[in-house]
Amino acid sequence: MCGIVGYVGEKQAAPILLEGLSKLEYRGYDSAGIAVFGTDGITVSKARGRLSVLSEKTEDGKAVPGVMGIGHTRWATHGKPSDVNSHPHISSSGRFAVVHNGIIENYISLKKKLQAKGVEFVSETDTEVIAHLFEYYYNGDMIETMIKVIHRIEGSYALGVLCADNPEEFIAVRKSSPMIVGLGEGENFIASDVTAILKHTRTIHYLEDDEIVVLSKDCVKVYNIDKEEIKKDVFTVNWDVSAAEKGGYEHFMMKEIEEQPKALRDTISPRIKDGKVVLDQFSMSDDDLKKLKKIHIVACGSAYHVGVVGKYVIEKLCRIPVEVEVASEFRYHDPIIDADTLTIVISQSGETADTLAALKEAKQRGSRILSIVNVVGSAIANASDDVIYTWAGPEIAVATTKAYSTQMAVIYLIALYFADKLDRIEKTEYNKILSEIESLPDKVSEILSQKEDVQYFASQFYNSKSIFFIGRNLDYAVALEGSLKLKEISYIHSEAYAAGELKHGTISLIEEGTLVVSLATGTELYEKTISNVKEVKARGAVVLGITTTEHEHTEDVCDHVVKVPATHPVLLPSLAVIPLQLFGYYVASLKGCDIDKPRNLAKSVTVE
Ligand code: AGP
Repeated sequence: MCGIVGYVGEKQAAPILLEGLSKLEYRGYDSAGIAVFGTDGITVSKARGRLSVLSEKTEDGKAVPGVMGIGHTRWATHGKPSDVNSHPHISSSGRFAVVHNGIIENYISLKKKLQAKGVEFVSETDTEVIAHLFEYYYNGDMIETMIKVIHRIEGSYALGVLCADNPEEFIAVRKSSPMIVGLGEGENFIASDVTAILKHTRTIHYLEDDEIVVLSKDCVKVYNIDKEEIKKDVFTVNWDVSAAEKGGYEHFMMKEIEEQPKALRDTISPRIKDGKVVLDQFSMSDDDLKKLKKIHIVACGSAYHVGVVGKYVIEKLCRIPVEVEVASEFRYHDPIIDADTLTIVISQSGETADTLAALKEAKQRGSRILSIVNVVGSAIANASDDVIYTWAGPEIAVATTKAYSTQMAVIYLIALYFADKLDRIEKTEYNKILSEIESLPDKVSEILSQKEDVQYFASQFYNSKSIFFIGRNLDYAVALEGSLKLKEISYIHSEAYAAGELKHGTISLIEEGTLVVSLATGTELYEKTISNVKEVKARGAVVLGITTTEHEHTEDVCDHVVKVPATHPVLLPSLAVIPLQLFGYYVASLKGCDIDKPRNLAKSVTVE
């Protein structure tokens, strides 16, 4: 998604903006630009391509004077990637410069109205409409002008705006797109996320929807849309800068794969006290919990795959019906949701547009919302009745690993907590699962210590044209994630299939040399999955088996085998996924792909 940085202070703004934008590159973009208020008014520099093109154009910002400015990395939605479609966009007179993250859904009608009044447009973007609307409504008061503009536009937006009449201050607002305010000494910032300004300040405000902020070098004021000043809580970000840096790894993704034991420990430990799961952030009463008739899990991408695990585990332990759906589908089929439904929303960024919209849909129908989120104060967190945070730290790589793993750990904790509250689990079983949850970090470390085995296997198959992942039950849920990891960073086509379903059509695609990754970690269905392995082998497939140390004869059937430590059956996904993360990483690395910033993808999809 697009990235925004804004600065006002005593230092030269342009280098600070460019450095901040470089910390947002992981969000995915195709062009970049800055607007700086200098001695001759507002100077705009922008270019298609990587940030390095803009840096070269501006001598790393040194060629652009001024102590106040806004910057943007664009992920194209309306209008192809080009210099002219890059942000910032300028109003007709040049008085306003605007950067925008999000989508203005009614821009076409607004554009026609403005064109009918003689306004000339130079770009294909929705954002340019905002710049001209500022010009149109401007009455000398930036806050009043902002309020008029946001009353006219519909959709999602995080905006930063410079006005040539205001050399000392600039203005910003957000709705459904993330924005934080950084509070410094003699300088202040806006940013799409904290990594862009962590080097300068840890003290921030999280802006809520329709909150307008006016920043000068010594003052930050926040207003509501009635132009009433509001008091904002101040948060201190405790991430260290290195957490947002690569720390010696070639890619953020490998760093984050290796951080999983720590992320799991940080997420699990605070929720286990005196041999019990404690979910202090969950405020639903035991009586209300007992009234629950259904649980709905809603998410996108890998977070959805965690939801598939959640369905199996919660139904198994709690005997409550669980539906799991991708958010973009959930929203549009008139879901059967009411006050007896708990909706669990899963999101790393807490800003995914489809997931946020699905949350609002469920809430509107009376459901209580419990979210599992990695970014404190994000839109999804703020919109939820209860939030159980994953303490994975900043996840920079587009392909999620540690956030996925910690989301799954939270799902296990929720399932165990609910099963206990509903008297659906024997004490011995509860203690066994709890003990195994606590051992997950060490077991993941053990798998990571053998990552070279996976690296060797990847070297045999990185030229594959199509790869299948098969499994049953929880192994199928893991197959979904393994397939997505491979696809999104190596660009190799892949499919995940319920192992028992393959013979109903897709097995026709299996031919000599086709690679099939078989997840066979569960004991109950192990033999059935091995039968499916034999089916594909009979048609020429090469099979990599992912199983546990409990299964001794997998090597007799599969061509290659990676074994993970044994654990309780419901926890196996946390271990089985690790070799698949590594497989996807090594294949992509061998193919020379841009692993942390895969083509066409963004870290947080804040548009529909
Ligand atoms: C996962 O590797 C992908 N990058 C993507 O599927 C991601 O999980 C999805 O977009 C949801 O993002 P969220 O968790 O921030 O809501």
